[in-house]
Amino acid sequence: MSDTSKSATLTIDGESYDLPILTPTCGPDVVDIRKLYSQAGVFTYDPGFTSTASCDSSITFIDGDKGELLHRGYPIEQLAEKSHYLEVCYLLLYGELPSAADLEKFEATITRHTMIHEQMHNFFRGFRRDAHPMATMVGVVGAMSAFYHDSTDIGDERQREVASHRLIAKMPTIAAMAYKYSIGQPFVYPRNDLDYAANFLHMCFAVPAEEYEVDPILARAMDRIFTLHADHEQNASTSTVRLASSSGANPFACIAAGIACLWGPAHGGANQACLEMLKEIGSPDNIPEYIARAKDKNDPFRLMGFGHRVYKNFDPRATVMKQSADEVLDLMGVENNPILATAKELEKAALADEYFAEKKLFPNVDFYSGIILEAMGFPTSMFTPIFALSRTVGWISQWKEQLADPQMKIGRPRQLYEGSGPRDYVDIENR
Ligand code: CMC
Repeated sequence: MSDTSKSATLTIDGESYDLPILTPTCGPDVVDIRKLYSQAGVFTYDPGFTSTASCDSSITFIDGDKGELLHRGYPIEQLAEKSHYLEVCYLLLYGELPSAADLEKFEATITRHTMIHEQMHNFFRGFRRDAHPMATMVGVVGAMSAFYHDSTDIGDERQREVASHRLIAKMPTIAAMAYKYSIGQPFVYPRNDLDYAANFLHMCFAVPAEEYEVDPILARAMDRIFTLHADHEQNASTSTVRLASSSGANPFACIAAGIACLWGPAHGGANQACLEMLKEIGSPDNIPEYIARAKDKNDPFRLMGFGHRVYKNFDPRATVMKQSADEVLDLMGVENNPILATAKELEKAALADEYFAEKKLFPNVDFYSGIILEAMGFPTSMFTPIFALSRTVGWISQWKEQLADPQMKIGRPRQLYEGSGPRDYVDIENR
């Protein structure tokens, strides 16, 4: 961020106020209103933060009109093609691509933290078997602060580092255990001879009774899902993590807050909602009816997995994810799966429809990741936990960045109050 000679002038009741304009490395200029209230006595009003930058950050940049997503300056397409998830984790956390030696050391560190404290298994057993795995994850990740006391002091840089590594390493184990518990199978311990994505698939699909070989095409597709969901600048869950952290809360509590926020169907829950919608549509024959409903202003139905708050031309993650979806569908075959056949036809029909073209609504990353996860054999309830484990590195990187920021303040938005003015209490017998 650099100060420029540019400023904006705001006039209220004939009084003028100069507001500095800040210029970022990429993206639109930002009007600095930090002194507005102290100087002019007014607030700004921006529900949904559609025009408000809540922080400065050097991690991720999105240009929604161009369909551009950069992590530390590197385009997501290049990272998805040439890199892999743990390297992207290093990049997000430390700001630069690692040397070969640094990457080896980082991967070894993450690998050595994959098990969770044995006593934490009891937490899982306390949940009902039909609990949503996201509910289990919110609880278990929050409970990590009760186990890893030696990494909750946010003032200690080394403890912050250890907490980051623990969260990235243990999240797949926690997500896989939540899944195994929900289907009544034994927990499968992590295998450190497998890479991050293959280990996750192994923990989800292996059983102690027999050998399970992870297919390299599925492991690669899983790694891509992780990579494409790793960070997405100041979205709702990341902003939740930052807001929780601004009060000085410990890292495990902050990430649990992020998981809770991600769960909603307008955010991370969209991949589950999308697959449920495909099941409801049931067959390609019913697609015209559902497209008509999505266009009907009097019907609240929306095509889940279509549209995006920021990307208004295309979602660059979806372009890469589509390639993986095609590979996985070729491997697994769609002929016998009406949901996947419906997805392929819906994609075609919506892209050819004028309403969707005019409103710039195209399949987003969750449309394709949902299809891949369905083809791999995950139940829909696991889609959002997989998003949560992928996004953990983004939350942690933003959390680390915020704690290192000398300007950090507790987050405390203002409001436009529309309730009653002051009035006297009325005794109950007089109401
Ligand atoms: N189906 C039908 N119409 C839609 C859809 C849709 N999926 N999305 C937006 N529209 C219409 C909407 O009705 C509105 O029409 P009009 O201007 O006539 O009132 C117009 O498009 C603009 O919609 P909006 O709600 O103002 O747009 P937004 O930027 O606030 O919403 C969104 C973005 C993602 C919440 C929305 O597109 C949506 O609900 N999509 C389905 C849910 C989904 O797939 N979410 C995952 C997003 S990607 C994951 C992530 O990054 O978290």
